[in-house]
Amino acid sequence: MSDLEALKKEAALRAVALVQSGQRVGLGTGSTAKYAIEEIGRRLRDGELTGIVGVSTSEASEQLAREVGIPTEPLDPRPLDIAIDGADEIAPNLDLVKGLGGALVREKVTEVQARRLIIIADHTKLVQQLGEKAPLPIEIVPFGFLSTIERLREFLPGGRLRMSGAQNYVTDNGNYIFDAQLPADFDARELERRIKGTLGVVDTGLFLGMAERAFVAAPGGVQELVRGE
Ligand code: A5P
Repeated sequence: MSDLEALKKEAALRAVALVQSGQRVGLGTGSTAKYAIEEIGRRLRDGELTGIVGVSTSEASEQLAREVGIPTEPLDPRPLDIAIDGADEIAPNLDLVKGLGGALVREKVTEVQARRLIIIADHTKLVQQLGEKAPLPIEIVPFGFLSTIERLREFLPGGRLRMSGAQNYVTDNGNYIFDAQLPADFDARELERRIKGTLGVVDTGLFLGMAERAFVAAPGGVQELVRGE
């Protein structure tokens, strides 16, 4: 396992230690969330946890949950006790960019219902300002996507439609993703409002005010960041 993978796993284990028997748990998506799903499966198998129900944020996480023996249910209106997920960028106030893995809409729809959203990451995901390292994924409907992109580019110049080889990348919801380039300085809440008000947009990878805490692993140890502290 590479050093970075070991760090991701370390962060994941810290988050899974917060999961208690009988809880409904949101299962994130991505290469870091994978370690959390595997650890929940291990704790179930070893009898450290019982009565867990997972709610998956993607087809990939659903499949992994099945493989490691986590019983799952589809999302319904009941709250989730906890959700654990990775992020592409983590700002000092725990606002996030998510969605480089393409699951942003299911992640947001699921995690907004979580009493606790716990983010796990390695130290490369920390930024001072969102957009520093990653583009902002925006899920858009395929119908008229070129027009939607033109509307978005009126206030977010640049960016590009995500591709998968020669084909447009398609999300689990059957939509496309426009990876927008964020400006150097912006008001995240105002930008979120503006993007979501754009015809053809489903949602954005901005997760604002949602994360309760983040476990961020660096070679020197795991840092625990708590929103509002
Ligand atoms: C999936 O859509 C994303 O939001 C991921 O959670 C995020 O990209 C972090 O993924 P990694 O842990 O693979 O970096």
